[in-house]
Amino acid sequence: MSTLIVYFSFDGNTKFIAEKIAETLNADIIELKTSKKYPTEGFLKYFCGGKSVIFGEEPKLTNNSIDLNRYETIVIGTPVWAGSYTPPIKSFIRQYKIQGKQIALFASHGGNGAEKCFAKLKEALPGNKFIGETAYVEPKKNPEDSSSKAVRWASDILAV
Ligand SMILES: Cc1cc2nc3c(=O)[nH]c(=O)nc-3n(C[C@H](O)[C@H](O)[C@H](O)COP(=O)(O)O)c2cc1C
Repeated sequence: MSTLIVYFSFDGNTKFIAEKIAETLNADIIELKTSKKYPTEGFLKYFCGGKSVIFGEEPKLTNNSIDLNRYETIVIGTPVWAGSYTPPIKSFIRQYKIQGKQIALFASHGGNGAEKCFAKLKEALPGNKFIGETAYVEPKKNPEDSSSKAVRWASDILAV
């Protein structure tokens, strides 16, 4: 079963988990990058990121074109922003008409909003089969626990 991990990460938490999952599944991994740069500090970081979600922005991805035909399973990872998934993930979903795939979702967050984020992702990805979802609270603060949770979760997906 060929699997691709696609993720966006602003502060490295989602990246940390994405890399663990990719390592466990021996899967390809792509970090989404955008030309739009969000402020990295203070009030503006939350304000601009939150606003980008609320206004439904789809920042242009700078990644090379991704051939999704090569994969049966796509694992999508995002930080929770304003109770939703991040704008680069929205760009990815809109750019690639993802259909007929097995999809697993994971998210990093600060304590709330993961359920809503997953519900919105599922709504945005009709025509696919969802095989799992899991959320991590600030995983880089607790690297050992988060990484063993990621390894277990990834192994479960592979067993599907
Ligand atoms: C713009 C912005 C909005 C956020 N909104 C939420 C939120 O609604 N709920 C939450 O629990 N955490 C929220 N967070 C915290 C991040 O989800 C959390 O720090 C996550 O681990 C970051 O992942 P990353 O390091 O991969 O970027 C927000 C962070 C930012 C920058």
